[in-house]
Amino acid sequence: MTTRYPPIHPKCPHMLHGGDYNPDQWIRTPEVWDEDMRLMKLSGCNAMSIGIFSWSSLEPQEGQFEFGWLDTIMDKLAAHNAYAVLATPSGSKPAWMSRTYPEIRRVNADGSRQPHGGRHNHCRSSPVYRQKCQTINRKLAERYKDHPALLVWHVSNEYNGGDCHCELCIKWFQEWLRDRYQHDLDRLNHAYWSSFWSHAFPTWEDILPTDKGIHGLMIDWDRFKTHQTIDFFNQEAVPLRELTPGVPVTTNFMNGTTTLDYWAFARAVDVVTWDSYPNWHEHADELGEAVATARMHDQCRTMKAGKPWMLMESVPSIPTRGRVKKRKEPGMHMLSSLQAVAHGSDTVQYFQWRKSRGCMEKFHGAVVDHEGTEKTREFKEVAEVGQALAKLDAVVGTSVQPSVALVQDWENEWAIREGARVYLGENTKYRQDCDSHYRPFWSMGVPVDVIDQTGDLDRYKLVTLPLSYMLRDGFADRLRAFVERGGTAVMTYWSAVVDESDLCFLGGVPGRGLREVFGVWEEESQSYYPHESVKVAMSKGNALGISGEFKAVDTCSVIHAEGSKVLATYGDQYFAGSPAVTVKTFGKGKAYYLAARMGQDFLTLFYKKLIGDLSIKPVMSTELPKGVTAQLRTDGKTDYLFLQNYNRQPVEVALDTDYTDVLSGKALRGKLTLEHYAVRVMSRPTRK
Ligand code: GAL
Repeated sequence: MTTRYPPIHPKCPHMLHGGDYNPDQWIRTPEVWDEDMRLMKLSGCNAMSIGIFSWSSLEPQEGQFEFGWLDTIMDKLAAHNAYAVLATPSGSKPAWMSRTYPEIRRVNADGSRQPHGGRHNHCRSSPVYRQKCQTINRKLAERYKDHPALLVWHVSNEYNGGDCHCELCIKWFQEWLRDRYQHDLDRLNHAYWSSFWSHAFPTWEDILPTDKGIHGLMIDWDRFKTHQTIDFFNQEAVPLRELTPGVPVTTNFMNGTTTLDYWAFARAVDVVTWDSYPNWHEHADELGEAVATARMHDQCRTMKAGKPWMLMESVPSIPTRGRVKKRKEPGMHMLSSLQAVAHGSDTVQYFQWRKSRGCMEKFHGAVVDHEGTEKTREFKEVAEVGQALAKLDAVVGTSVQPSVALVQDWENEWAIREGARVYLGENTKYRQDCDSHYRPFWSMGVPVDVIDQTGDLDRYKLVTLPLSYMLRDGFADRLRAFVERGGTAVMTYWSAVVDESDLCFLGGVPGRGLREVFGVWEEESQSYYPHESVKVAMSKGNALGISGEFKAVDTCSVIHAEGSKVLATYGDQYFAGSPAVTVKTFGKGKAYYLAARMGQDFLTLFYKKLIGDLSIKPVMSTELPKGVTAQLRTDGKTDYLFLQNYNRQPVEVALDTDYTDVLSGKALRGKLTLEHYAVRVMSRPTRK
């Protein structure tokens, strides 16, 4: 069953296009504001994120509020049929506040308080800061609740999991631990294995998040910071939800980072958004960036079970970060913008609308350059995206329901950082593993959901869980039940090793009963240097129907088949001849185990075979050339395919049926030449 979701706000049933707009930096030259409006219209921008770092303009002195400039901007936007993604200003605090209330500044691990400056660095526990946020947020909501331009609340900016070691934060952490361990200190000490180095905690007050030797403690600190940040967000949202119940409330995530568990955070927001900054052109080809970005886009869609999301920030050319500041080459801006739409975004937004004249981000890519007109390449390319989005009304609210899920879990990633790294060193490449297991599907045009270990497995036919070192409570049982009922699971080396506290399972890896499900015992793992590789030979007549020899790199585990069938064995090393790939039929399903970090060539053939066996259909039935993907959005009547070419040269794609080019209205049939970095949006009646 496929649903069409409502638009992000019913006021605007169109794709949103726009970005971070800082008119407060131009208060001295209001003629620039009029020029902004003219240029917005020209570029097809209809949604601007305003007020993100505006606290010193909104409240220049304590209790002295100045909304005049914002009134003018909101009115101007409305007059130009544009909308405000209106921010609360807590991402950066004004100097008077830091001076009057030093307790809002974070405290370092050594007890020193951070100086005023920077951004995203307030104490999340500070009652004063919370109260100041509530006051200004309430004033914003009261003032603009009926304003025609108000579309979405953009709460704060990129909350991060930065540390604050002030007394309030530490006390709150200790309270949170009491709850988590049911007021049982012995339980905590056991979970932390704290008799190691004599670190047993005699009281709750002795527990400080600075003891890096205790992995369970460090992972709990990450969990706590996620909890604390969501709590901070929720309190910021109170006046917004109370006064403007129909306006979606959100904040911009950073899926590329490991600081917060965004799965937990996603439950608190009305619409998922993220800031995407791939390093296009950095590598020999664009595929690595394209795949990693697609995976994170899919994750955003999956976080609300398919509901369209918002690309809150991206860059028209170059961000300030990055070693080499290579601009997006012609074509890449359209391709990367529509890539987000292809994976479920109903918006394309940028950082930033206009380059600031001074400070850190004055040369950061923007729609409007210091030159100030529509004559730049960046502006023209943004305007082209605006024209394309204006033709995609029918795509708004459409989604996809994949049969494949990739498990990528933030808590597991924290545990890998703490524990697995000790065993495998630099070769614990979690995100790269996620990408290599995602990539075959992307290349075949098979849609994928990216779930975490709390996700519902039963929606899928195939679940792949690379490097699932930590098992969160309940996950092993759900995975077992999924396979038993007929699901196919793929697990890799060094999975199911520890529990939520990073305590090793006793009785062999994979633990928690998964040894029986997968039919393997993993005895030990070997890490390899970058110049080394290990041969993996496919077994004769194996059920995958794959023959020949492949290479494993970085990590190989020595496993024993215990009731599973061996599909491939190692071809050299001291463990030559032992199993490298196995499968076990468990209940009605199948459980595959890949004992080594297998290369892309093997994974491509492997997953191709699996989707064939499971009758999972790519969105196009003809084969896609290398570097090309097709992604689907549908409302159950019409399918919208986004055909994307990440190659630096043109390719030919054989179409599997007749399509309409949604952007040009032309009929497409037979063979299609896709120019380099080209993207086509094509429609067809929905396939049953
Ligand atoms: C984002 C941030 C923006 C801007 C941008 C520059 O992470 O939210 O405010 O700094 O980076 O790339």
